[in-house]
Amino acid sequence: MTATATRPERLHAQGVDVAFGGIKALTEVDLTVRRGQVMGLIGPNGAGKTTLVNVLTGFQAPTGGRVLLDDRPLAGMKARDHARAGIARSFQAARLFRDMTVEENLVVAGLGAGLGRRAARERAREILDWIGCLPLAGTICDGLSYGDERRIGIARAMAMGPAFALLDEPASGMNETECARLMEVISELPARFDCGVLLIEHNMTVIMGVCQRIHVLDGGRSLAEGTPAEVQADPAVRRAYLGEKAEETDLVI
Ligand SMILES: Nc1ncnc2c1ncn2[C@@H]1O[C@H](COP(=O)(O)OP(=O)(O)O)[C@@H](O)[C@H]1O
Ligand SMILES: [Mg+2]
Repeated sequence: MTATATRPERLHAQGVDVAFGGIKALTEVDLTVRRGQVMGLIGPNGAGKTTLVNVLTGFQAPTGGRVLLDDRPLAGMKARDHARAGIARSFQAARLFRDMTVEENLVVAGLGAGLGRRAARERAREILDWIGCLPLAGTICDGLSYGDERRIGIARAMAMGPAFALLDEPASGMNETECARLMEVISELPARFDCGVLLIEHNMTVIMGVCQRIHVLDGGRSLAEGTPAEVQADPAVRRAYLGEKAEETDLVI
């Protein structure tokens, strides 16, 4: 893992715009993820959540604005450089190396982050043990259940020892038991890995249960940001999710 002294405290999106031809996927979005914190990112389908994660991880160049680690702009850097700078992600679709074992997937991530083979292997096994997946270490990823695949996706992101982990809908397709376990795992990430987490999720139980703060996107713009209680009580957020009925309904988002 990177020496603590050099670990960044904040990952910023500053005035970020992204246009795809005529479509404005993001307009002047400002968001800060702090180390030690789980920040939720929510919004209806097409709000721009994945696009923002793509910008923060260097998969998508912004058409305006910039990304900074503390005060250092990451202009022009590619995804691999963002990863090296300490920003890791899990994907909406898991994207594991399907012909490799679970452990090999994590080892490759550790090697990519600059660890030696032995240290990468040790870290891989430690993380698998922590999430209760050590018995799966030798399993080829192609044979994993859906829930396991999602958890291994997070484990692989953490195997890079990132300062910031960006998780794109990790609970999608999980049953209630798997969700409960996932919530424990995500809650523990900041302290265990000395990192910040940006969590995109549609499952509001998961979001409200693990986030210290929540940022809401709608139509590519920031609609609100605050604590779970503040965001739940925000009339604009309720309208964005539920239309007119929202304000009469008790916390349904
Ligand atoms: N590569 C792309 N090319 C063109 N349009 C895109 C591309 N990626 C996303 N979009 C559009 O940008 C908007 C935001 O999409 P996305 O970031 O995937 O939203 P979310 O993750 O919140 O559902 C949508 O209108 C989507 O159709
Ligand atoms: Mg998405």
